Amino acid sequence: MKTNNYPEDPKLTSGRHISYWTDTENPAKENPLKENLETEVVIVGGGISGLSVAYCLIQSGKKVVLVEDGFIGSGETGRTTAHLVTALDNRYYDLEKIVGEEKTKLIAESHQVAIDFVEDTIKKEKIDCGFERVNGYLFLHPSDKPESIQKELEAAVRAGIEMKEVDETPGLLQNKKGLCFLNQAQLHPLKYLNGLCKVIEQKGGKIYTGTHASKINQEGIITSEGYAIKAKHVVVATNSPVNDLFTLFSKQYAYRTYVIGALVKKNLLPKALWWDTGDFNINAKIPPYHYVRVHPYNDQYDLLISGGEDHPNANTNKSKVKEEDRYKLVEEWTRSNFPMEEIIYQWSGQVMEPMDGIAFIGRNPFDHDNVYIITGDSGNGMTHCSFAGLLISDLINGKENKWEKLYSPSRFTLNKSAPVFKQMMNEFISYTKQFPNFKSAEILSSIKNGEGKIVDMLEQKFGVYRDETGLLNIVTAECAHLKCTLAWNSDELSWDCGCHGSRFTYQGKVINGPANSNLHAYSEKGVLIEA
Ligand SMILES: Cc1cc2nc3c(=O)[nH]c(=O)nc-3n(C[C@H](O)[C@H](O)[C@H](O)COP(=O)(O)OP(=O)(O)OC[C@H]3O[C@@H](n4cnc5c(N)ncnc54)[C@H](O)[C@@H]3O)c2cc1C
Ligand code: FES
Repeated sequence: MKTNNYPEDPKLTSGRHISYWTDTENPAKENPLKENLETEVVIVGGGISGLSVAYCLIQSGKKVVLVEDGFIGSGETGRTTAHLVTALDNRYYDLEKIVGEEKTKLIAESHQVAIDFVEDTIKKEKIDCGFERVNGYLFLHPSDKPESIQKELEAAVRAGIEMKEVDETPGLLQNKKGLCFLNQAQLHPLKYLNGLCKVIEQKGGKIYTGTHASKINQEGIITSEGYAIKAKHVVVATNSPVNDLFTLFSKQYAYRTYVIGALVKKNLLPKALWWDTGDFNINAKIPPYHYVRVHPYNDQYDLLISGGEDHPNANTNKSKVKEEDRYKLVEEWTRSNFPMEEIIYQWSGQVMEPMDGIAFIGRNPFDHDNVYIITGDSGNGMTHCSFAGLLISDLINGKENKWEKLYSPSRFTLNKSAPVFKQMMNEFISYTKQFPNFKSAEILSSIKNGEGKIVDMLEQKFGVYRDETGLLNIVTAECAHLKCTLAWNSDELSWDCGCHGSRFTYQGKVINGPANSNLHAYSEKGVLIEA
């Protein structure tokens, strides 16, 4: 399994594990901003959402500057599994209940449009990123009711999805009935992003990596080095918006998800996508499901990429399974359903689940009209974020877009999404009850090498991690967003916030929003070393 020099080089990815994608595609050379600039649109974030917006705006003739604080794809896009689908995380029969039949049709159509947009862009710009149209198979988890399959077929067909029922799901070790979603797609996400960057730069766009936007408002951004980019429009594409303090975080919740990459004999499995319908024994808004695909690896093997075992951020799951043990669960499930040999990759990532299952793409609520955000993309971020390119570009160009209201971040459908909201609040409350409450600083000496704990000292909570050399790394355990207490993630060696998904390295550097500043970090002697 590959890990990086995290946190010495935390920019590499948002955790210590290296995904197959970051291992097989080199990031472009670091290019930090070193001057003040003026432009029409400034975009913060170099993942699939930021680059899709930049690409669409460049096509429409706008002047664009994009800043990314790591390298291109160093956020969740470098950790995805890159299924591009109309088979959504939320069942169509659930979406119909939340937003009604007409809006469900619009949702289905937007994901279809997103896949077509990615395919057309790849063909037009000749981007070599392994894009393939494949079928996707949804099969029943043993805890789900058999009639769910029929219900989903009927609702998805009503929504306009091309699909059929199958008596046998190809590729599985045991015969299982299921649904086949036609014309889904897959690609290598970082090759796709690097391809988009080339086109954006060739057409006059500017991309700066290793550049953190520390202040963001309607006039533009200021970087942590003090350089300013003035712009007429500001797009915050940081996965969880780092310019949001008061609204969005209460409409979505952060979940962690786990992936393994295992060798499988070449061409033994068909090129396809697979999902089970999720474990209904786990009390969650979306029953945690598994997602699988195949990617060419070498002459002898393909790579079987399988993920799942999601839980609300910071290990809130009642089963209290440790983060690192979740790979074992993904492995067990995968071995029981697919042929596979040695596991050569494992990594985890974070997804933002919106309350009503629909992403937030558009103008930032309670902000100036020229500030836009993209978030809440759940496990369908590859299509949500691609589609965001088209939608945000229309908004900036003053064009009508039939999806504007549906995806508006200002929408709030508490009456219809109330049961979902209640479920999420329950998960959230179960999290806050789990904070360990240590009584004294003496606990420091009991912390073993490689262990992280929350410790009460001097009437304050601290996050303490003792590294493998025995050195203590101490940070304030109050999240830099709205002061929730952080929890230790022993798998990615980070401090994670269960409230709205912010994450920090064990040395206190922010790696996921909505927080946009570092934690106070202390040396072993209690001297403030970073604020
Ligand atoms: C394990 C896993 C599997 C997934 N599988 C799928 C799938 O199969 N299909 C699917 O559709 N979706 C999937 N998703 C979801 C999808 O990958 C994400 O929703 C999508 O990649 C998010 O893209 P993004 O551009 O919004 O965010 P990111 O890729 O996280 O990009 C945001 C960028 O903003 C940068 N940034 C943050 N703050 C600042 C700042 N202040 N200044 C400058 N830069 C900043 C970050 O460094 C980051 O690179 C998966 C996600 C995970 C974690
Ligand atoms: S992310 Fe909001 S308090 Fe931590």
